[in-house]
Amino acid sequence: MKSKLFTFIILAASFLFISCNSDRDRAATGTGSAEVSEARIDSLLNLMTLEEKINLIHASSSFTSGGVERLGIPELVFSDGPHGVRHEHGRGWHALENYDDEATYLPVGISLASTWNKDFGYRYGEVLGNEAKERGKNVLLGPGINIIRSPLNGRNFEYLSEDPYLTGAMGVGYVQGLQAQGVAACPKHYAANNQETDRHNIDALISRRAMHEIYFPGFKAVVRDGGAWSIMGAYNKINGQYTTHHEYLNNVVLKGEWGFDGVVISDWASVKDTREALLYGTDIEMGTELLRDFDNPVYEEFYMANPAKEMIESGEIAESYVDDKVRRILRLMMRTTAMTDHGEGKRNVEEHQQTALEIAREGIVLLKNDGLLPLDRNEIRTVAVIGHNATRHFAERGGSSQVRALYEVTPLEGIQNLVGNDVEVIYAEGYEPYYDESLFADIRGDAASQSRENVRDVELARSANQQLMQEAVELAERADAVIFVGGWIKGHEGMPWGEGTYDAEARDKLNLKLIFGQEELIQQINAVNSNTAVVLMGGSNVEMDNWLPDTPAYVHAWYPGMEGGRAIAEILFGDVNPSGKLPMTFANSHEDYPSHSIGEFPGDGTVDYAEDIYVGYRYFDTHDRPVHFPFGFGLSYTTFEFSDLKVTREGDKVVVESTVTNTGEREGAEVVQVYIHHKNPSVDRPIRELKGFDKVHLDAGASATVKIELDESAFMFFHPEQNEWVLESGAYEIQVGNSSRDIKLNEEVVL
Ligand code: GLC
Repeated sequence: MKSKLFTFIILAASFLFISCNSDRDRAATGTGSAEVSEARIDSLLNLMTLEEKINLIHASSSFTSGGVERLGIPELVFSDGPHGVRHEHGRGWHALENYDDEATYLPVGISLASTWNKDFGYRYGEVLGNEAKERGKNVLLGPGINIIRSPLNGRNFEYLSEDPYLTGAMGVGYVQGLQAQGVAACPKHYAANNQETDRHNIDALISRRAMHEIYFPGFKAVVRDGGAWSIMGAYNKINGQYTTHHEYLNNVVLKGEWGFDGVVISDWASVKDTREALLYGTDIEMGTELLRDFDNPVYEEFYMANPAKEMIESGEIAESYVDDKVRRILRLMMRTTAMTDHGEGKRNVEEHQQTALEIAREGIVLLKNDGLLPLDRNEIRTVAVIGHNATRHFAERGGSSQVRALYEVTPLEGIQNLVGNDVEVIYAEGYEPYYDESLFADIRGDAASQSRENVRDVELARSANQQLMQEAVELAERADAVIFVGGWIKGHEGMPWGEGTYDAEARDKLNLKLIFGQEELIQQINAVNSNTAVVLMGGSNVEMDNWLPDTPAYVHAWYPGMEGGRAIAEILFGDVNPSGKLPMTFANSHEDYPSHSIGEFPGDGTVDYAEDIYVGYRYFDTHDRPVHFPFGFGLSYTTFEFSDLKVTREGDKVVVESTVTNTGEREGAEVVQVYIHHKNPSVDRPIRELKGFDKVHLDAGASATVKIELDESAFMFFHPEQNEWVLESGAYEIQVGNSSRDIKLNEEVVL
């Protein structure tokens, strides 16, 4: 009777905490501090046995962690992924068939970052939060915010940028939008999970300065400004210790310096040691069955289950370590839909699809246009659409970020829907994907042991593609204009999962060469039709030297989500003016990137981040190295002028004001980027660092004054010897431009 009374009291008490303040306020308050009663957390904790506490700190199924039924504490329910709520797996590892789990498939992370539109971060998270809530999920396993250190990383499409400031700015909105719906964000993977090769064991050797200036800031922003309620550890080690239970990363930095009061969730099977997990900040262990027998998981044998209980009972480790984990987990539960009513969710609604469309439109980057674009549907009688990616669906491929999209508009459908009544649209596949060992870093991790099935005979596939190419070139010859849609594919082709790997989890690429004979195909199309626009998809760039010079126009579309085909068509035919900007540098070969020319990639056992802080434009611009398209670059169908730079001091802030004018014939959007350059630093520093940006939409002839405030942290660097952030007095240049290599205005300020 007594326990039932207790249960009743607890249950009754838990409903007293249905928060009444507005959702948006809830998520936007500092380090995740939503309406939660610490007193109630302590009272629940005091009622728990050690057994029950241990139950909370590890998985109870593939995507749930344990609860305490006696006390009315539910399981926590997790779901991937960063750009859409994943298929339903139930409590196992096989997606349930015939399950109502269609979802909104948003443009992938790097597409979102390419918009440079902070409002989109919030709206993106809002869609995910609503759809996760409707599916009964408490924690959405995103955003993916690892820095793009090499263009070969198979998961770059899931991430945001090579730059930590842009990563943080887009990640903060995403976290706030998501959590405003009562679903916890789980920014991942903390930290320096910058490759997929040997991901479970690779040991990244990184200086403290590079950690703090490059690999931490995105996480710091989503924790301190975004208020993330949870964070996901990574598989890899840093300087010898697994990141998921890393004393410096978790205890000193995350929970210490940054004051993170949420939950550190492991990556799935990233916990490798009981003692370290208990002492060094892991709060929930998930997915360990993946490295054991995942069809017959024994959760009691998890590192943070019986082995942990024994360490506590033996006195080797104090129970207070477990108590801290339990407090964090209860705090998370009370912040989320797990224990608080956040209202109904909604899924597959028109407003979500509209958000997907708007982000796709602004995330597509126009990189070259000699005047061919926009195509004029009144001038063109026949347009040839060529390329496998013009008809391929991407949503369900690529690994854990897969989504069962309600629909996916392909580029061919987008073009047909937009201009099909005015223009004859003809199509040829041009090439067919095949699996080719020589294209990929061999795996040394979770799939190496699996024998490859249905690997296509590469030679057979290549000869079949010769035939497809011939048919495509003949089509190109008789069209007024050609739209080629190619690039990478997101998914696994030839691997036991039914396909191998191109842009996907658990694999990296070996190089950036255009695959499946596309280079020759583009050359042949250019030879017969001088009105060819190339549209490439992919989570990174491809080598361009052999086809770009003869190509009149090139658009990079990443993986633009379920409305991507429509957005691509609207841009090519001018209904939408492109405004995307590159969130990563497009050099020609992977060997040009500092992670390959100075550092190591992918390493072997250890991977030396010898390039240190010189990642992306910090390297290319400082060393004036040639690139095809710089960080922050993107063209428009109109022109903009920058003027009237004013740099003033307001308290401890430096205020940067500039005017942007649309000097062209049509509306458009421009991104004002603010970089700082420290003129005489006591240690080496990059020639410039992005510290602020804003996007302005302007009608033809209109102007806007953009005001960006820099606080003193914008000028600091992490001192390599003193191992702390320092602000050095002296002269700094404030550089305002629309790419890292197109600085329009420049003003000196002395601090
Ligand atoms: C995967 C990924 C992680 C994902 C998790 C659950 O291995 O690394 O991003 O959220 O496991 O699927």
